[in-house]
Amino acid sequence: MCIYSESISVLTTYEIANRIKLKMKKKRGVSNSKGIDSASYLPTGVRLWPLKRYLEMYRSSLDDPEGFWSEEAQKLDWYKTWERVLDWEPPYARWFVGGRLNASFLCVDRHVKMWRRSKVAVYWEGETGETRVLSYSTLFRDVNRFASVLKKLGVGKGDRVAIYLPMIPELPTSMLACARIGAVHTVIFSGFSAQAIADRVNDIQAKVVVTADGGYRRGKIIPLKQIADEAVKLCPSVEKVIVVKRTGEAVPWTEGRDIWLSSMLDDAELFVTPEPLESTHPLYILYTSGTTGKPKGIVHSTGGYLVFNHSAYQWVFNIKEESVFWCTADVGWVTGHSSIVYAPLSHGAAIILYEGAPDYPTIGRWWDIIEKYGVTIFYTSPTAIRMFMRSGEEWLQKHDLSSLELLGSVGEPINPEAWQWFYKYIGKERCPIVDTWWQTETGGIMISPTPGIEPIPLKPGSATLPLPGVDATVVDADGKELPPGKTGLLIINKPWPGMLVNIYGDPERYHEAYWSRFPGSYYTGDFAMRDEDGYFWVLGRADEVLKVAGHRIGTAELEDAAISHPAITEVAVTSKPDEIKGEAIVLFVTLKKGSSPSATLRKEIIQHLRQVIGPIATPDEIYFVESMPKTRSGKIMRRVLKAVASGQSPGDLTTLEDEASVDEVKRAYASLKRVSKEAEADVEVRNPRS
Ligand code: WTA
Repeated sequence: MCIYSESISVLTTYEIANRIKLKMKKKRGVSNSKGIDSASYLPTGVRLWPLKRYLEMYRSSLDDPEGFWSEEAQKLDWYKTWERVLDWEPPYARWFVGGRLNASFLCVDRHVKMWRRSKVAVYWEGETGETRVLSYSTLFRDVNRFASVLKKLGVGKGDRVAIYLPMIPELPTSMLACARIGAVHTVIFSGFSAQAIADRVNDIQAKVVVTADGGYRRGKIIPLKQIADEAVKLCPSVEKVIVVKRTGEAVPWTEGRDIWLSSMLDDAELFVTPEPLESTHPLYILYTSGTTGKPKGIVHSTGGYLVFNHSAYQWVFNIKEESVFWCTADVGWVTGHSSIVYAPLSHGAAIILYEGAPDYPTIGRWWDIIEKYGVTIFYTSPTAIRMFMRSGEEWLQKHDLSSLELLGSVGEPINPEAWQWFYKYIGKERCPIVDTWWQTETGGIMISPTPGIEPIPLKPGSATLPLPGVDATVVDADGKELPPGKTGLLIINKPWPGMLVNIYGDPERYHEAYWSRFPGSYYTGDFAMRDEDGYFWVLGRADEVLKVAGHRIGTAELEDAAISHPAITEVAVTSKPDEIKGEAIVLFVTLKKGSSPSATLRKEIIQHLRQVIGPIATPDEIYFVESMPKTRSGKIMRRVLKAVASGQSPGDLTTLEDEASVDEVKRAYASLKRVSKEAEADVEVRNPRS
């Protein structure tokens, strides 16, 4: 599947676009006047043509970013048009400066004003089988009433609200209600522990927490209110806790602080005027893991984020108001923010919101949902696909998946086998797959096929080409652009509207984490390679961040959590490849005097991590070791740990540790390997699953 046959030493999409333009000119000129066979000018001729629209758009987006984005922005409704498209004072970008808009108006009101009033906005399916269908007018009513409740509780523009809810309609409703009045929401994934909630709530000094009496997961009730209570005890800024009734279970109650949402709704206003917010006003803060222990509060703006996502979902998914869009992520992650709430609703599409586990009560649950609601666009993670692959195709044969038109993958690299399986068994070889690369920080999809612009040849495992406006490159450690086939670091050279605007309360970290390594360019933290056709292959993280089942988690965060266990003196976290989850967490632990390795201690440490962070922090392996392999200056040789955890040979390790000699690395490896083998023989509890 080669679309460019000539060899191009350093290939940027921009250059390709220029070359194509040139070739097209030549072709027209030559064939008209001299009649020479155009094939000699266009050796790959036919295959180039399908990319014409994309390349023209890409080129104009980089030639004249302001003109390009100004046109895109006009697709939204603004109270006031911007005065300047972009103020770029590296590393700070302000998009659509002077413009005013409102996300809740964009996602709700404007559809109600059009014929979409009675059109479905949300199909909700509870794990226990209940369903709710919200039309745009129902969503309008619910968002307005929720906004009124927030206002009555004293929440106003700029105030922060933490949302800790299961996947129920009140989750998007509360987000849109915040956006309506200019409050800034922080959604906290409902799998996080009390400590993780408290850290986030304290960081943003939230005034209000929204939670539920509980949520269902794999047939069990998760006591969300109880967990939120534990967290709020540690959060002096919280004045009120709004509780949504989901399970009907009895919950602990603090008079004066806790309020049932239902008790407030009767007296709520039916209409709350949406605040005409500055484009640069923060829409939300979302925490994600980095290379230090403390998660980063990624701040997204209103105008830039919405413009970027609105356009991207048309280009990537060809989304339309008649689309039934199902993104299986949890709204607690960025994928859910953009792909469940803001982008599909801004297009007036219908979204699916499913509360529960993918395989509950049977492995057929997801396929039931696709069939039942006629899902047209299905967007999921490679981990989920691999899990289903393992269960065979029998379940699929019982379902009619013919409504599907387009499939998407996100969150981690997709291996070609999983891609092929997805293509064959879910898409029945009819539906293109868009492998979308992006990050919490990028706000929206950055590299992906764009069937909404025009079809491009797909290569299983490659996210293909950057979206218009995204100036992506692969560079070496010195920032020099690499030729095709060479693996390096993925960077973005120009600001784009969806980009994060800051790290909440920590501008220094914002600068340090993203803009200091390659001044003027955004550092993604990912390894990538471009091939001869200019296609991007994103290969995984280049820093100490893991992707476990598509969830992003920092090794430093895990180490900070583990070290608070009383038996541990030192801990280092690494990962090993996992057939389903992509990566699995592995801990190396040294113990305090008086503690010795045992199956019980192993269980206790696992439990401890689950309690401090949540079930996503569950390690697959714990090695008890006498000492950590260290360089002379005391740095842990992480690559040695990784090699031992992944069963790699020491040969692959040489020269990797900056300070240690080859012999030292080998010795450390051999001794660690021996110790870990012994420990393994001692302790038989293996592979605990979350
Ligand atoms: C990884 C999720 C390969 C990558 C939207 C990135 C991917 C991190 C892909 C961000 C993909 C995401 N192919 N890797 N299609 N999509 N990643 O912030 O390592 O949870 O840096 O955002 O996921 O994870 P985050």
